[in-house]
Amino acid sequence: MSVVLLLNGPNLSVLGQREPEIYGTDTLADIEKAVADEVSVRRWNVVSIQSDAEGDLVGAIHKHRGTTVGAIVNPGALMIAGWSLRDALASYSPPWVEVHLSNVWAREQFRHESVIAPLASGVVVGLGAFGYRLAARALLHLCAEDAT
Ligand code: DQA
Repeated sequence: MSVVLLLNGPNLSVLGQREPEIYGTDTLADIEKAVADEVSVRRWNVVSIQSDAEGDLVGAIHKHRGTTVGAIVNPGALMIAGWSLRDALASYSPPWVEVHLSNVWAREQFRHESVIAPLASGVVVGLGAFGYRLAARALLHLCAEDAT
């Protein structure tokens, strides 16, 4: 059974309540369902991990490195200086897509750089929860059907 790793960083557990004017009203559970719905076309499963601690995300990447077909990663503010997250992703060879709900380019200067983006297969920014669906579709596209 093929599995997609869905990783969400700090403060993303409270989506739906957290600054809904910026991040929307969908909850993390809604997003998990949406990703599962997208990848169900190929009967893939989703393992979803959210943590406010960078080390937990690093551990999850190593744990699931050999057993997942790809990953969707919203690093939250770890985009700015999550160097150990970046190094863990460098050792993760399947395709993975970075997602940000908000258009980080239209926001404060400190959100304009992501230390993980140069390693990503692609980045989806500013499309709200729908961005996770797009990232899931991108993984379906990037993983050849006969490889999964
Ligand atoms: C975010 C953008 C980050 O700058 C912020 O720290 C977040 C959420 C987004 O999804 O728009 O926590 O990653």
